[in-house]
Amino acid sequence: MGGDAVDIWQHLASRKIMLLKSMKLAVQELEDPYAVFSYAQEIGFNSGLLTQDILDKMVAAYNSANNKQATVEQEITPVATTAPTEVIANNSADELGRTIAPIAQHEPFDVRFRNNLPDWSVDDFSENASDAPQDIKVHYDITGKSVTEGKMSDINSCFSDRLEKIRKMIIRNSNLPKPPQEIARLQIEYSRYQGYGNTAVAIGLVNEPRYTKNGHLIWGIEDETGEMTCLLTKRQGDDRDRAQEMILESGLMPDDVLGVSGSFSQTGDIFYVSDLYFPLKPKHQKASSEHGVSVAFISDIHVGSKTFLEAQWHKMVRWFHTDPLAKTIKYLILSGDCVDGVGIYPGQDKELAIPDLYGQYTEFARLLELLPEWVECVMLPGNHDAVRPAEPQPTFEKDIQQDYNSTTFVGNPCDFSLNGVRLLSYHGKSIDDFVAGLRTVTYSDPVEAMRQMLRRRHLAPQWGGKTPLSPEPEDGLVINEVPDIFVTGHVHGHACIDFKGTTLICSSTWQDQTSYQRMLGFQPKPCILTIVNLKSHATTAIPFA
Ligand SMILES: [Fe+2]
Ligand SMILES: [Fe+2]
Repeated sequence: MGGDAVDIWQHLASRKIMLLKSMKLAVQELEDPYAVFSYAQEIGFNSGLLTQDILDKMVAAYNSANNKQATVEQEITPVATTAPTEVIANNSADELGRTIAPIAQHEPFDVRFRNNLPDWSVDDFSENASDAPQDIKVHYDITGKSVTEGKMSDINSCFSDRLEKIRKMIIRNSNLPKPPQEIARLQIEYSRYQGYGNTAVAIGLVNEPRYTKNGHLIWGIEDETGEMTCLLTKRQGDDRDRAQEMILESGLMPDDVLGVSGSFSQTGDIFYVSDLYFPLKPKHQKASSEHGVSVAFISDIHVGSKTFLEAQWHKMVRWFHTDPLAKTIKYLILSGDCVDGVGIYPGQDKELAIPDLYGQYTEFARLLELLPEWVECVMLPGNHDAVRPAEPQPTFEKDIQQDYNSTTFVGNPCDFSLNGVRLLSYHGKSIDDFVAGLRTVTYSDPVEAMRQMLRRRHLAPQWGGKTPLSPEPEDGLVINEVPDIFVTGHVHGHACIDFKGTTLICSSTWQDQTSYQRMLGFQPKPCILTIVNLKSHATTAIPFA
């Protein structure tokens, strides 16, 4: 090819010429692509989707101006038909984005392109993406399965399902001192559970958690049979217990499901809690893929906003085409707020560079097309995207999907496996509720909200808070399986840590600080690509800001 492939993709991008993957080979094979594209205006093609027909016309114009007889097909066809393997070999030698079939041998890694980051080793990122089969299995996605009519009976079924599922997890995973009993029965027999050693156990949904003036925590706990008032007191000296201190410090979320053990007051109207029980096991054992390929994560790209960081996007594209670590990235997870949307908040139109919603999605498709063809994107919606706001959210409509190649569309949340490693991807709108509800969760440390979600095995417990919920008869926000990797976005921060055997990733945004965030004094952490290897579970993060 007559020019550097990344340069020509960026040149076309800057002219708003969109290129499908099927056309990249044809463009790459041009002797002088810049010269051919200089004839675009002459044939009346200023911007938009490049088709074979348009390319043929430009080549014909170029040839006639240069007295050439050959057409673009004539330039490509002899090589493609007579020696297809040679085409592949030639392209892989260039290594700039075209791999048509698996390459027989691993290429040596070129350490010159390591971004000067010492924190990853070739052993941890051991396999090129194109050497492993694509293997995406979806275990849960609401798309096409939403059945709720939003009636009271749907809300009741949703909560019964939540209580039943999480109750079983608490019984299985936490060390209850004795089997739980129905709350109505405990209330009738309250006098049997008074004083030291006469412990009762119950599991239920939390109602109206609040603090007393003395710093004790008080809440209602409710099951199918009744409700009782629980009190967790602040203790002094040797009586202090770390787990209880943690709950006293953080608080509880309305509609949490948890277990309690303790005893009743003299009159039976207060249950003094001695211990609390959550449904998460102490340690999760991660699954590993047999393939050493990687998965990368970004979120909240907000294409269409004036604050979308386009120059940094192109820097990442260039990195994808040149860095050896990038060759191991088989999947790119886009965890919602892919575009800025329209009408999401008052006055948004003044902040938009692309005021048309479909125009925003077309532009995002064009930006994803610049990535190498070995990367498969998995895209889910967030609260800025063009799907219903109530969670679980189904995926994007077909008329949005049609602009995209190499993209798997899923709902929010989505529980899925990549080459045998289980991921839970959730946009993270409920982090707003966790910040409001728990004293230990802040926007500067959003990963604490993720720890709390896993601890509760629920992504968005609070009904009637900031997160709109769809009351499906089966609660789609229960974390049925503990994931190997749990990823969110939404808060425009960045984190990547291990929590009890699960890798927690707070995906970085591609949007600069907005005027609203400036007003709140919030500083985002944009343009960081988080990468996890599916075999070694080694992680690294590459900054592009
Ligand atoms: Fe966002
Ligand atoms: Fe969001």
